[in-house]
Formats: sequence, structure tokens, C-alpha cells
Amino acid sequence: MSALSQNDLNYIRELIQRHSAIVLDQDKTYLIETRLDPLARKMGLTSLQDLMAALRANLSNDFQHQVVEAITTHETSFFRDIHPFAALKTVILPELIAKRPPGQRLMIWCAACSSGQEPYSIAMLVHEHFPALAGSRLRIIATDLSDAILARAREGLYSQIEVNRGLPAALLVKYFTKQGLQWRIKSEIRRMVEFQQGNLAATWPFLPQMDLIFIRNVLIYFGVDTKKAILAKVRGILKPDGYLFLGSSETTLTLDAAFEPVSIGKTLCYQLHPEKIPPR
Ligand SMILES: C[S@@+](CC[C@H](N)C(=O)[O-])C[C@H]1O[C@@H](n2cnc3c(N)ncnc32)[C@H](O)[C@@H]1O
Repeated sequence: MSALSQNDLNYIRELIQRHSAIVLDQDKTYLIETRLDPLARKMGLTSLQDLMAALRANLSNDFQHQVVEAITTHETSFFRDIHPFAALKTVILPELIAKRPPGQRLMIWCAACSSGQEPYSIAMLVHEHFPALAGSRLRIIATDLSDAILARAREGLYSQIEVNRGLPAALLVKYFTKQGLQWRIKSEIRRMVEFQQGNLAATWPFLPQMDLIFIRNVLIYFGVDTKKAILAKVRGILKPDGYLFLGSSETTLTLDAAFEPVSIGKTLCYQLHPEKIPPR
């Protein structure tokens, strides 16, 4: 399909930023065009210009969401980068379990959870290694901007390629059942995760104080002010001895001095430094 004009590209950039805070640089033209192409075809349109004309004529939220959805990156995998999960298993969960009174639930928030591989990886790890936690002693809340990707996450149905990425064979056999050509995660893991829609860049719904927060591989898409605003809100809900995990190419450095990097095994996570938290 033919290329978009600068005017059209700016329209798309502005739309995406307004809905998701994602900043699409000038060098993302190719990405915008290749991702809108399938949407145009799905809608029976023969060119990207027709898609733009339809978009400009129809200002419904639904259409705009479809465009945001088409352009957003949902890349994820089970046990992505593995080291954060090793740190959870060997150091962080044993430490938090020992510290918290038995009646207190451990709270985990997995933000920008995409199709669910990340929160389900945490749930499987807990089920495997901390079975006493897996019931009422743990709450995993998983959120994402996209309703469509959350519907996939709730379904817990994955292709062979998806389960081949990062999921140990033993866990596939134990926690999934084959359904046609796909694999469905078993309900004992699925019911450990509560999925909710949430935009990190908008007003957050009420969230309880968290022991662990995962916001991985999403801050990279935002501008500096949005990243700072999100980290300031994380400060408000992360327990004083809780841990924040970001993606391997993301950092709080230069954004928020209250977070201190903590090295555990081969991973880096962050804890709040009590003296560096600015007064509210
Ligand atoms: C690259 S995926 C990361 C998935 C997972 N955290 C991981 O590291 O594998 C980024 C996710 O962020 C979500 N996202 C993008 N903008 C968002 C926003 N403003 N609020 C919440 N989620 C957002 C997208 O829908 C997408 O599912």
C-alpha cells in the first residue's frame, strides 16, 4: 500500500500519544505504515489514504482504539530475560515471606502485562516453589492499556511458538493442556491472576500498596515527563521494602532519585531510598 503523507503521520502520532502516551519518533514511519496496513485490509480498504480518510471522518473511540491497538507493540514471552524470575525465587520471595506476618497477603502488580505471559510466569513460579503462597496469601494484579490483549491474556491460550519461547518443557506439561494446535493454561494458574484495564499515563484506579511491581518494557515508549510521572506514582504505592522491576534496557537513573538500583544475581531491580523520597 502507498505511503502516508507527513500530515497523516503527524495525525497518527498525535492520536497514539493522546491515547497511550507512546511517542513515535520520526524514524517510526515504516512501523506506522506496516502496522496500519493489515488494519486497512481487515476493514476492506484498499489504501492507507482510505484508512486515514475513514479515521478522520469517524471520530469514534472504537476506531481510534483499533488504530492504537494496531500500532502498539505487545512483544512478550514467558520468563522473559529469566534473571528477574531467578531473583524472585532465590532472594526476594523468601525474604518477603519471612518478613510479612502470616495473615498478610503478598501483593504483586504486573503493569503493561500484554497477553499474560509475565503474570502467568510469576504465578507458575509461586505455584512451583512457594505453594503455601499460591492460595489466599498472594494477589497478582495484571493491567494493560489494551482491552483486546487483556481478552487474550484472560483466555490463556497460546500458540506453539509462544510456549516455545522461554517456557521450560516441564512447566508446559504440568500447567498447560493441548487444545487443537494451541496450549491453554490450567485454571489453577489462571485464577491466580486478576486482569484489569489500566492506562499508566492516565489517572490510576485505586491500587493497594504493593510488595512487587513489574513495569517492564513499556517505559521505553514514553517521553521523559511521562516516565517521571509514572515513577512518582509508583513511589506512592510501592511498600518501603518492596521491589520495582523494569525492562533490561530501562532505568530510573536520571528520572527519579528515590529509586536505588539493587543488584540480585544477574538482574537489577529498584528499591526506595527512604531519605530520597520527596515530600508529597
Ligand atoms: C512490549 S509489551 C511488554 C509486555 C511485558 N511487560 C513484557 O515485558 O514482556 C508493552 C505493553 O504495554 C502496553 N501499553 C502501552 N502503553 C500503555 C499505557 N499507556 N498504559 C498501560 N499499558 C500500556 C501495551 O498494550 C503492551 O501490551
